[in-house]
Amino acid sequence: MFAHVERHVDALKTNRTGDERQTDAEVFDRQTLMVIYDFMTGGLIDTVHHPISTGKEGNVFYCTDEDGEPLALKIFRTSTSTFKRVSKYIEGYPRFKGAAGTRPRMIYTWTNKEYRNLQRYYEADIPVPEPIAFRKNCLLMEYIGDETGPAPQLKDVSLDDPTEMYDEVVSFIIDGYRDAHLVHGDMSEYNILVWEGEPVLIDCGQAMTADFYNAKEFLMRDIVNVNRFFANRGADVIDPETIMEETLREGDDEEDEE
Ligand SMILES: Nc1ncnc2c1ncn2[C@@H]1O[C@H](COP(=O)(O)OP(=O)(O)O)[C@@H](O)[C@H]1O
Ligand SMILES: [Mg+2]
Repeated sequence: MFAHVERHVDALKTNRTGDERQTDAEVFDRQTLMVIYDFMTGGLIDTVHHPISTGKEGNVFYCTDEDGEPLALKIFRTSTSTFKRVSKYIEGYPRFKGAAGTRPRMIYTWTNKEYRNLQRYYEADIPVPEPIAFRKNCLLMEYIGDETGPAPQLKDVSLDDPTEMYDEVVSFIIDGYRDAHLVHGDMSEYNILVWEGEPVLIDCGQAMTADFYNAKEFLMRDIVNVNRFFANRGADVIDPETIMEETLREGDDEEDEE
């Protein structure tokens, strides 16, 4: 079975340096290979190609399905650093009662949380990668980009009209709150990709529902981060308090049921 998976995981092939293989061994533990195997036998993916991104907490891989269509597979590391970051968001979180516990279990909960947050944003028409499947520490989603490469992060894009892009991103904050009842919590030029001139919001694991006890602090932090980046790019930015008021304005923001 593992031989089958390995044939379809380019990153496990032998023409790689020692360092690269070290990273791969950490990411592709037995459990993760089992999940990849399930995704393959379930017809979701055919081949895992190269990593798009190698981060502290996990890697994102470029994959293709049987028709050669691209997909993005985010694999969370079940390591101590991820666990530490994740646990402070999950403990005391009503949507995930009973999730505290062993390290792998908490990472699985985190993966589930990112999947559900993507779903909420997607259903509210906020541009995010469409979530496709999750299992254990693996999240499969729509790939943003094309065969020549993934969409660049906002920080690496030169903007013809920074104010226009800014307004789009501010609408992610406001509509994200009002329509998806979510505060992203880590909104920045790193977690926004730009594809065909349009911003796409990613990295939604830490997003919290509007009823989370310090959601408003995170909301303000997102606003301040976005304003700082766009002010530097010469955009005509709106006062943070005004964005905050617009976001929290009474109207269709009924209580969250979860
Ligand atoms: N669906 C996707 N399509 C294309 N590239 C992606 C996708 N998701 C993530 N990436 C790339 O991988 C990087 C890391 O993903 P992210 O979700 O931000 O994880 P983290 O920051 O926790 O490592 C992103 O900055 C982006 O370059
Ligand atoms: Mg990120």
